[in-house]
Amino acid sequence: MNATLKEPISLGMIEAANRIVMAPLTRSRASDDGVPGRSAATYYAQRASAGLIVSEGICIAPGAAGNPMVPGLWAREQIAAWAPVTTAVHDAGGAIAAQLWHTGRASHPSVQPDGRLPVGPSPIAIDGLTFAANGRTPYVTPRALDTSEISQIVGHYARAAANAREAGFDAVELHSANGYLVDQFLQDNSNQRSDRYGGSIENRVRLLIEIVTALVDTVGPGRVGVRISPASSFQDMADSDPRRLFDHVVRTLAEHDLAYLHVVEPGIDGWRDARHQRDSPIDSAWIRARYPGNIVAAGGYTAESASRAIESGTVDAVAFGRHFIANPDLPRRLIENLPIAEPNRETFYSGGDQGYIDYPVWREPARTN
Ligand code: FNR
Repeated sequence: MNATLKEPISLGMIEAANRIVMAPLTRSRASDDGVPGRSAATYYAQRASAGLIVSEGICIAPGAAGNPMVPGLWAREQIAAWAPVTTAVHDAGGAIAAQLWHTGRASHPSVQPDGRLPVGPSPIAIDGLTFAANGRTPYVTPRALDTSEISQIVGHYARAAANAREAGFDAVELHSANGYLVDQFLQDNSNQRSDRYGGSIENRVRLLIEIVTALVDTVGPGRVGVRISPASSFQDMADSDPRRLFDHVVRTLAEHDLAYLHVVEPGIDGWRDARHQRDSPIDSAWIRARYPGNIVAAGGYTAESASRAIESGTVDAVAFGRHFIANPDLPRRLIENLPIAEPNRETFYSGGDQGYIDYPVWREPARTN
């Protein structure tokens, strides 16, 4: 029995029934215009025994999407389709935050309105392939945002947060991890701007803080989480001095009234285990020395390592990603040390109900004599 994982915790205004968080998981089951699919309510309600569910990345505006079939929160029909999802989670006793997402340069004209170029801090392309409307395709060089366009993007985050609350989400989580737009502004291999959003660390962190301020103003204190991945090199991310950068990020975030800081641990690159790691990568223990608020850590955890991390005081809760896909009753399995089922990677992003809402809860095998 892993009793530590069972302890309730207040994450700002969120009353989590236990220390197990469902990590955000893009599942590519929305319509082309970003309306979540009909099975989303079933999928999330099946997983509502988590202390907190963080939704899949939800696009804040039409140009924010990086892949086909990802949901949004800018249009009336999207808000209307999310409402039964949050109701189903609440009826099942859970809490759910909306992860607010702008992919920036990690996009492709084939998923942009009118086939436009994706935007980013600087015209620097990711070296690699993306999953676009026509399958695997090289990334393109993004168009650098004008300084005057940035306040509009901050406004889109605020609008999406207001829409999230209207749709019944308990909180919002800013996706500032994994090489998406906000991360692209933070790190200097993707941000080579010369205006007030580039250059010094203070300037590169400005967009993050403007968005966080707008989100807290919109949804109130204790209802905003922020996700960072300071050790990840996913989507070409790197910084010339990550410790100095993230020291400033974390200490500045501590001055805001967040529900939690969500840290992706070293060893994870986006949605999979890392092939290469940065030198002396930043982990949750390093963050803990600089951040007094709630820390949710994610990345490669087991019931045992999660219990240890919480007991040592390094983190307050642990998020699980891949395990939640195939184990809708994951909290029970972790707490009671029951077997954990393996997910089928072929159906991670395949659309449809298969590999989405058909994973069973744990049942004691029938005894044979
Ligand atoms: C992810 N992950 C992810 N992260 C995020 O911030 N937003 C997202 O939308 C997604 N989407 C996503 C889809 C799929 C299919 C996977 C497997 C992962 C990353 C995820 O939240 C988590 O950080 C990693 O999976 C590492 O945790 P685990 O799986 O080792 O517990």
